[in-house]
Amino acid sequence: MNIAVVGTGYVGLVSGTCFAEMGNQVTCVDIDAGKVDSLRDGRLTIYEPGLEVYFDRGRREDRLRFTTSLAEALEEAEVVFLALPTPPAEDGSADLQYVLGVADDIGGLLAANPDWGYKVLVDKSTVPVGTSRRVTDAVEAHGLTAGEHFDVVSNPEFLREGVAVDDFMKPERVVVGTSSEKAGEVMTRLYEPFVRQGNPILLMDEESAEMTKYAANSLLAAKITFMNEIANLCERVGADVDEVRRGIGTDSRIGPKFLYAGIGFGGSCFPKDVQALHRTAREEGYSFEILDAVLRVNDEQRKSLIPRIVEALSDDGRLDGKTIGMWGLAFKPHTDDVREAPAHVLIRELTALGADVVAFDPEAVETTKATFEREPLSGDGALAYAESAYEAADGADALVVATEWPEFRRPDLTRVRRSMTGDAPLVFDGRNVFDPQDMADAGFTYHSIGRPH
Ligand code: UGA
Repeated sequence: MNIAVVGTGYVGLVSGTCFAEMGNQVTCVDIDAGKVDSLRDGRLTIYEPGLEVYFDRGRREDRLRFTTSLAEALEEAEVVFLALPTPPAEDGSADLQYVLGVADDIGGLLAANPDWGYKVLVDKSTVPVGTSRRVTDAVEAHGLTAGEHFDVVSNPEFLREGVAVDDFMKPERVVVGTSSEKAGEVMTRLYEPFVRQGNPILLMDEESAEMTKYAANSLLAAKITFMNEIANLCERVGADVDEVRRGIGTDSRIGPKFLYAGIGFGGSCFPKDVQALHRTAREEGYSFEILDAVLRVNDEQRKSLIPRIVEALSDDGRLDGKTIGMWGLAFKPHTDDVREAPAHVLIRELTALGADVVAFDPEAVETTKATFEREPLSGDGALAYAESAYEAADGADALVVATEWPEFRRPDLTRVRRSMTGDAPLVFDGRNVFDPQDMADAGFTYHSIGRPH
């Protein structure tokens, strides 16, 4: 099939590349000429494991093209994906200017070129309930008729950063929201090769598809937050959250995933989507109490190590002159994404208290530098970067584990202990990567989340 993907951000690039891998002819469009140039030259603009192989193959075999011209991509396309940014506006709502702007451009082009034929326009971005309707209106404003010249479909994505290629190629389900039978058939034909193992393509109305995305992310965020509160209580009553997790995760009604307690969730999706759904509820005169609690608890959880670090290192509530090693900057492993990363929240708090932080992350140093250039740290403490995990720990008064990269799980603990200050150096493990007994045996003063120490 011939596909256009408008927007070469994370979702657009992964989707376009994977559709090309499945034999489709894909043209990706972006207004950013610099980005299009890099992609044309074979330089990927995002870090995502496994993507490069498909990207190289798609380009080499000319199934994957890049352009700044919407018209060029649109002319031949049967399906047009809108994978555009929907940043939170100041009031927390999703800003739809890019989505509606492109819908307007598409309407103009289709009206001027009636011989281009019927197109299925697909909302791939996470957009508030009702957006499909607004996209339809924006295109119809050009004198076109839905059902005849085009249809709009809501097709939310469920990609996890770090494993997005697998999630795309073998989705557990594909959600297709459309009231048009014709568009439903086109989408089914497009996705059938991805669900050959029998996973479902779920056809539903547009609003339900849009709501499905928010409900999924909000429930997962709530699940993590619930476990974080269980962990906080475990610490007080002497229980071990890891045991509790195993105890409840074997109940098939609960399931084993997303039950890992830690220093809170981050990323570009959960915080934004929970906020957006909370806001939608408010606009409808409904107070979504659980979401309110999820947001508040997660904010606290991201800072929850701070009082423990201060108590261990200081008499006056300040950390001046102290050095904290930090392992991990990305909001989770296998990505360079630092949006809403718990590590960044910790760095802001620690440096505000006067501590110097020396951080290491295998992928997210550059993105961190860019973030703190845009929004500088305000405290007395400084932030420096290390070339390795060992270097970050060297000379540190305490070590914080903020992201569970695999390489942090089996370090040479003797080397780490010897390089840090104090007889029993302090380790604050925000992701429970170490075994408390092993850490005690290795001579550390070890703190983790929701486990006895
Ligand atoms: C999330 C969803 O998992 C995807 O299905 C969805 O498509 C995506 O958002 C999106 O809306 O685009 P992602 O943000 O990439 O994907 O990351 P997750 O792997 O879901 O992790 C989110 C956060 O939860 C991370 O900070 C992670 O450390 C934290 N987490 C996850 C926990 O603290 N505990 C867990 O047990 C699991």
